[in-house]
Amino acid sequence: MKYLIMFCIVLLTSIAPGLFDNENYRDLEERKVSEVLKQFDVDPHNLPLLDKNKVSVEIGEEIVKYGETLSGRKVKKQSKHFTCVACHNLVKEDPVLSSPNPEDRLAYAVENDLPFLQATTLYGVVNRTHYYNDDYVKKYGDLVDDARNDLRSAIQLCATECAQGRKLKSWEMESVVAYLNTIDLKIKDLDLSAQELQNVDNAFDSKSIDDKKAAANLIQSKYSIASPATFVDPPENRSLDLTGNAYRGELIYDHSCLHCHENGKFSFLQLDESKLSLNYLKKNFPKYNRRSVYQVARYGTQPLYGKRSYMPHYTVDRMSERQLEDLRAYIYTEGK
Ligand code: HEC
Ligand code: HEC
Repeated sequence: MKYLIMFCIVLLTSIAPGLFDNENYRDLEERKVSEVLKQFDVDPHNLPLLDKNKVSVEIGEEIVKYGETLSGRKVKKQSKHFTCVACHNLVKEDPVLSSPNPEDRLAYAVENDLPFLQATTLYGVVNRTHYYNDDYVKKYGDLVDDARNDLRSAIQLCATECAQGRKLKSWEMESVVAYLNTIDLKIKDLDLSAQELQNVDNAFDSKSIDDKKAAANLIQSKYSIASPATFVDPPENRSLDLTGNAYRGELIYDHSCLHCHENGKFSFLQLDESKLSLNYLKKNFPKYNRRSVYQVARYGTQPLYGKRSYMPHYTVDRMSERQLEDLRAYIYTEGK
């Protein structure tokens, strides 16, 4: 009995600070957006079909990060050329999820040491409902039909067309989806104000359907369900004065170009911050062929099927026109 009382005292003193904690909504902030929405009668989409045999979060994670399994059940390499993380981040990359834009994203990438890439982060991809949006139909035509409203088709399209690899088998696909469900949006990613958190918290116990609807709408207004994608051409006139900011241009060079080209990680073209690299890029910048940064940034390069990797292009939503001029300013100032 004595021990029981002592145990209770110890237990109480260890949980008591939590009870009086000011951060009342810490638990709520850690919760999954999809689970909270479910409490407000919004059904989650993109859940993994976990009843399938062999489905595993670990294997899904290994396929995404390494293109094959390091442990456990063997998986044939998904692509000779790429892993998903060549082109996609796996963490939050936009400081304000409801207004993704390349200027804020670059600042956030620099602050958090993230690559600045052509494709949208896979963090929170299960919370989106539309994929390969807007102009991607120009690149992939009918292939986009299925992918546009269906995550699994989007992944399959990416595995074969973007990563230039093989299709995923269904248990591998479910493993990838299971993994993606672990990097979904959490309430804290939405940056709700204290008042908004309180409104959501109150809505859990409210009997009013309107309160629940309002809470669901509030949450859904804080992130986008589709990543915008507008294609643009590079400037036709390439002898314009330098208008960009070379300092910001260097940040783009480091966080974008070098992510794939340093030590030839994902490309035969090796780039670094040496004069040799920068001179080469400067010389070719104004040209109208695939050695020009203007051309590859906006058109990418074409894959030679099965033989080679290719470079995906930047939509204007992923690299703004000003940013491309910043990059040009950096390369022109540093190269000769
Ligand atoms: C060579 C670059 C590249 C590789 C490798 C790649 N992707 Fe993509 N992926 C893209 C591009 C470009 C898009 C176009 C849409 C976007 O993300 O903005 C895309 C789109 C997607 C989308 C839809 C995202 C959206 O919101 O529109 C998913 C899902 C996806 N990829 C999953 C994967 C998975 C899983 C892998 C690994 C098996 C992979 N991708 C490998 C470049 C790539
Ligand atoms: C997601 C990875 C990735 C990123 C990011 C990337 N590239 Fe590439 N790039 C490639 C790949 C892969 C190729 C090879 C294309 C091929 O083999 O057809 C390539 C090709 C090129 C080429 C053409 C080489 C040639 O002679 O054919 C240039 C120039 C180039 N990249 C410059 C850049 C610059 C500048 C940046 C930064 C704005 C950049 N790349 C960002 C992957 C990337």
